[in-house]
Amino acid sequence: MSKIHAAITGVQGYVPDDVLSNKDLEKLVDTTDEWILTRTGISERRILKGENQGVTDMAVHAVKGLLEKTNTKAEDIELVIFCTVTPDLVFPASANILCDKAGLPNAWGFDLGAACSGFLFGLTTASKFIETGTHKKVIVVGADKMSSIIDYSDRTTCVIFGDGCGAVLLEPTEEEVGIMDATLHSDGSGRSYLHQKAGGSVKPASYATVDAKEHYVYQEGKQVYRFAVTNMAEAAANIMERNNLTAEDVSWLVPHQANLRIIDATADRMGVGKEKVMINIQKFGNTTNGTLPLCLWEWEKQLKKGDNLILAAFGGGFTWGSVWLKWAYNS
Ligand code: UT7
Repeated sequence: MSKIHAAITGVQGYVPDDVLSNKDLEKLVDTTDEWILTRTGISERRILKGENQGVTDMAVHAVKGLLEKTNTKAEDIELVIFCTVTPDLVFPASANILCDKAGLPNAWGFDLGAACSGFLFGLTTASKFIETGTHKKVIVVGADKMSSIIDYSDRTTCVIFGDGCGAVLLEPTEEEVGIMDATLHSDGSGRSYLHQKAGGSVKPASYATVDAKEHYVYQEGKQVYRFAVTNMAEAAANIMERNNLTAEDVSWLVPHQANLRIIDATADRMGVGKEKVMINIQKFGNTTNGTLPLCLWEWEKQLKKGDNLILAAFGGGFTWGSVWLKWAYNS
């Protein structure tokens, strides 16, 4: 019997309607459109507004759209892996809440936390449930409401992040398509450079933590940049080398959208031309777990069965990695 591969058989994204432009940010902090654009590549980002709107309220749009476009019955979904750093609640899991809101009565689920690399970790984890034959329909969601943990008086972080999400459906196939290989890494010694200081078990919420603004993203950008630019490029290059893929073999680089300069460095290290790189950072910013599925969603119509995609990400933790997948369908 031939090996079962886990293939992406559909992708759907969702971004909120409200736009926060660089010009809007000029009114909030001491920054300029020119600084943001040249240092990061970002022009605008989306923000989820409204009372009681959490990350699952975005994900429910993506999942319902995904079921519709793939003609999948809600009751056939067996597992949901929800990759996020901004869950609705500390517990229960956002996967659990999403299954209720999206009406997936037979699915079990869990949240996966690997910061900006979460979607890669989630995709790889999901592929194992498919490859072992225990599950036939698994949804991986990458979603973040970054605006819920951003200090809009801190110019070093508020210009970077945005809200958004995407979801993919994974199903088994015996064809030579789907997730072919993955290389994933964690290094907890990098945790102090990018994290949220309070709200966890080490430092639960208190008046003092709120006064000290410790429930927001804290990032030492230059340090993170140094690690990101090397490790994301190396992971992508390594997965190509160990699978004997040349730059010509690669149809698309799907990079985490943290900084255009990091994306360019990754493409250069792989020897892949700009025309093969998915870039939407200019309009969505860094949506953390949302960046990779949002790229797949936006480029879906251009993807052809058999295309080699190299996904790559780097994030807080530190976490990083790369996934090689062969696209499984023509739209
Ligand atoms: O997705 C998770 C992983 N995260 C990343 O990969 C992010 C990696 N880091 C980066 O992308 C970049 O480091 C940033 C975009 C965050 C910052 O860019 P940078 O070129 O590294 O700038 P910097 O932090 O070295 O700051 C340069 C200057 C500083 O002023 P001085 O000290 O030179 O006077 C900052 O205070 O720019 C200043 N600055 C700003 N100026 C205008 C920092 N933020 C801003 C701002 N507007 N928004």
